Amino acid sequence: MDDITRRVQQMYTHFPLPNFEMPEMPGEAELAAMGPMHRLEYNFYVCHPHYKSFAGCRMLDGGCGTGNSTYRYAVRNPEVEILGVDLSEKSVFLAESRAKKRGVTNTRFRQVDLMNPEALADEGPFDYIASEGVVHHLSHPLTGLRHLVDRLTPDGLIFLAFYSTKARARVSHFQKAIQLVLADDEREDFGKGLAVAKRLFGSLARAGHLEHEVAGLVNTDQEIVDTFLHASERCYTIPELERLTSDAGLRILRFHPAYLWDPAYWLDDPELRLRAAALTPEQRWHLGDLLIPHHVLYQFFACREDYRPSTAERSDDDLLGAVPRFVPFVDLEMVTSGDGDGGFGEAGGGRLAFRDGMKQLADIELNGDQLKCVQACDGQRTVSRVATEAGCDTAQASELFRRLAAGKAIYFA
Ligand SMILES: C[S@@+](CC[C@H](N)C(=O)[O-])C[C@H]1O[C@@H](n2cnc3c(N)ncnc32)[C@H](O)[C@@H]1O
Repeated sequence: MDDITRRVQQMYTHFPLPNFEMPEMPGEAELAAMGPMHRLEYNFYVCHPHYKSFAGCRMLDGGCGTGNSTYRYAVRNPEVEILGVDLSEKSVFLAESRAKKRGVTNTRFRQVDLMNPEALADEGPFDYIASEGVVHHLSHPLTGLRHLVDRLTPDGLIFLAFYSTKARARVSHFQKAIQLVLADDEREDFGKGLAVAKRLFGSLARAGHLEHEVAGLVNTDQEIVDTFLHASERCYTIPELERLTSDAGLRILRFHPAYLWDPAYWLDDPELRLRAAALTPEQRWHLGDLLIPHHVLYQFFACREDYRPSTAERSDDDLLGAVPRFVPFVDLEMVTSGDGDGGFGEAGGGRLAFRDGMKQLADIELNGDQLKCVQACDGQRTVSRVATEAGCDTAQASELFRRLAAGKAIYFA
């Protein structure tokens, strides 16, 4: 283990994070109250909401800390096997004991150093890897990120979160100020450093000089150490993140939360919205970053650089044996009509519109059987099994999936 990683390990052994235990079975309100990072839902953001089952999917929570994120994923996705790994033995112990106490059966935890290329050699590959607020603490972020990418399936997705240089500027000033007033032995010992940092914050607060944003970051010892005394931390700009991910063999798919990065959210001028919509996704991210001041963490989804879902034409026999999967992040909107109560999958037909962000991909008419096929498409069944499940003629099902693939809404696995 390298010296920086050893220091990071020491820090998170004495000050494990997150420092609070997530409520059992968090409800929507609790998830929402915990901010965007804690509202991520595997089946909403990652797997298409129209999938009904993720049985067999494997997930890695890389740098899971005390396991709040792992628990959140586990309760919402009981059919997904989740491995949580962390450098800190104490954090792994807390994550494990909390999961056991709560009777969670689909998680496992291991102490692992993500900087060690062999550490996960006997695990995976994983369909989904989440690593929130971790890579920017690694002694060599690119090397550690490459190790994670090594464990990703060819069509897997990865979710990452990094500190923003711009939003972190004030915190960086305080980090430097604290280092200036620390004695050598206090720099070596996180407990002693913490005591001095608290005196500094206390003094500034009494003098009325501790600004609101910083005061909000000094509630607990763990938070103070993690925010102001970290043994290894790097902040990023968007171009730096693009370079880092590309060097690690990844392609950024979309920043999160999607609504905040959609120009329609922050521009109300229709002409400017059109101009923003005409930009490339990369240009839109840059524009959003320049206009919105508060991205404390850059959170985004990425896939392997060479992953291109195949929506190519198939012969009839090939098509029946292929598994249709929704292309990640394509939003489907179903409007049903005809008899029945208008609910999805009723006997009447309807329309299916699909979009990728602001871009309208297609809008197609479907009959009632074809609507049932869309509902039966779970990312596991072949076209022929989907047709049987939906009680639909195979020719009609094939025609439907050809149209969806031509519109780039699905690909065949
Ligand atoms: C800020 S915490 C984030 C915890 C969790 N991902 C969350 O969002 O709640 C960073 C975590 O990364 C872990 N970490 C840092 N370096 C690591 C490494 N080389 N290998 C594995 N985990 C590491 C730390 O132990 C710590 O638990």
